[in-house]
Amino acid sequence: MREILLLSGPNLDLLGVRSPEIYGTATLETHVAAVTARAAAAGLGLRHLQSNFEGELIEAVHDARSSAVGIIINAGALTHSSWALADALAIFEGPKIEVHLSNPAAREPFRHLSTLAAVVDGSVAGLGALGYDLAVDAVVALLDASRT
Ligand code: DQA
Repeated sequence: MREILLLSGPNLDLLGVRSPEIYGTATLETHVAAVTARAAAAGLGLRHLQSNFEGELIEAVHDARSSAVGIIINAGALTHSSWALADALAIFEGPKIEVHLSNPAAREPFRHLSTLAAVVDGSVAGLGALGYDLAVDAVVALLDASRT
């Protein structure tokens, strides 16, 4: 089955207890279940990896070149610092969507830069869990468009 890779970066394993006033009360498990269901409805599988280690996320992007048709990534704070993760994503040829639960542009200045923004097809920020749904829909639409 064709598969989407969902990547979750540092500290997202603590969703639910981490700053719920910013990130909401849903756990990462809940978000992953929703993304899995939405991908399944479009006939796609979903593989998820959460890691607090930059290199592990980079290697997952490399592996995705042969195992996934699209990538959805919430890189956490690596979004604002990791040129290496951006370089890895640039090599992946399928649809890539960046997601943030909060709206980094409305927060501290260090969150205003996204190293990933220039290498992904699109970004969804500030919409909470809805952002993940929209990201799946975007990957599906981009895959459909690339077939026609
Ligand atoms: C985040 C925003 C980042 O600035 C932050 O470091 C995170 C979560 C979000 O989903 O809103 O860890 O990516």
